[in-house]
Amino acid sequence: MKKKLLITGGAGFIGSHVVRLFVNKYPEYLIVNGDALTYAGNLENLADVKGQPNYVFEKVDITDENAVNALFEKYGFDGVIHLAAESHVDRSILDPLAFIRTNVLGTAVLLNACRKYWKDDMENKRFYHVSTDEVYGSLGEEGLFTEETPYDPRSPYSASKASSDHFVRAYYHTYHLPVVLSNCSNNYGSNHFPEKLIPLAIHNIRNNKPVPVYGKGENVRDWLFVEDHARAIDTIFHQGRIGETYNIGGFNEWKNIDLIRLLCDVMDRKLGRPEGTSAQLITFVKDRAGHDLRYAIDASKLNKELGWSPSLQFEEGLEKTVDWYLANEEWLQHVTSGAYQQYYETQYQQR
Ligand code: NAD
Ligand code: TYD
Repeated sequence: MKKKLLITGGAGFIGSHVVRLFVNKYPEYLIVNGDALTYAGNLENLADVKGQPNYVFEKVDITDENAVNALFEKYGFDGVIHLAAESHVDRSILDPLAFIRTNVLGTAVLLNACRKYWKDDMENKRFYHVSTDEVYGSLGEEGLFTEETPYDPRSPYSASKASSDHFVRAYYHTYHLPVVLSNCSNNYGSNHFPEKLIPLAIHNIRNNKPVPVYGKGENVRDWLFVEDHARAIDTIFHQGRIGETYNIGGFNEWKNIDLIRLLCDVMDRKLGRPEGTSAQLITFVKDRAGHDLRYAIDASKLNKELGWSPSLQFEEGLEKTVDWYLANEEWLQHVTSGAYQQYYETQYQQR
């Protein structure tokens, strides 16, 4: 019988890469993309997948218990890969409750649906929760986050993700729900909404606008190419041990200012501008409130147990990313103008 998987947040940045990978790699599965299409959800990300016979899109808000239950009744899911979330730290500082609603309540609604519909047959079922390394807090100059690092979230975003992680583990321990979790570092690649550092900087450099660097640009992030994250999710979903958590990272730490300088060089080259032109756009601005200094991930458990490792060097991944944005001006235009939000009405609803 066909395996039926719900992928939540499949119209977002990482979710769209996960949906594409699963639809293409597993024709024997039915992939249901459940997404509320918030400002971050964009079905144009999946234009190439839309007509595939093993792919369905369902517009659903995961905080709506009746709608989520109706989806479980309709499809009888065997598995859930849960990515839907409010995902931007700066927005969480402005509106924390939106993060609590989707990330905490929404996750609990999904867990409850799994508990309800799987209670008589947990065999071969799986709930996979996609989370972030930001739950571990902030590092100093040294050290790495491991799966044993105590939680110490410090932004409303990371606090909401930490809370959702705790609920996932609570459902495992209390109801024996078959769960698996991963905590990943910063992703980059195509289809990334231009509110986050790398796509924002590409967009601004392209348009000769200032590139805002918070504080002195000394904060450090570990960057992973989004398609490598999608591959890790595939590996963990199929081979990860129930109840376990796997850290995912790129072994690739960059100070923000160094990353932006590298990106400026790549952009100068790609746009045929004299060396040093784009770097003049770098503008140091007021720091983010409570800005975590450094994230760095030890992903050796995932490597040793399941054999996953990143496939791309950062320089290569960044080139690919810049190439994609320069070749997809229309995608950026639609996202920055809001036009992408009409895509659902014109391409899906009127069928
Ligand atoms: P994103 O903001 O690009 O996409 C989020 C998606 O969730 C959007 O399609 C949006 O429409 C959908 N969504 C939001 N609220 C919803 C709701 N109430 N009901 C249904 N759908 C809803 O996010 P992303 O960067 O792709 O992140 C995906 C997941 O991966 C998140 O759980 C995030 O915490 C996690 N994560 C992200 C990163 C990163 O670097 N972006 C790193 C580690 C983990
Ligand atoms: P971001 O892409 O928002 O991801 P996160 O906050 O989840 O790590 O930010 C990455 C880093 O870049 C973070 O240290 C904040 C910084 N930053 C800037 O300096 N300028 C910006 O305009 C943005 C959006 C982020």
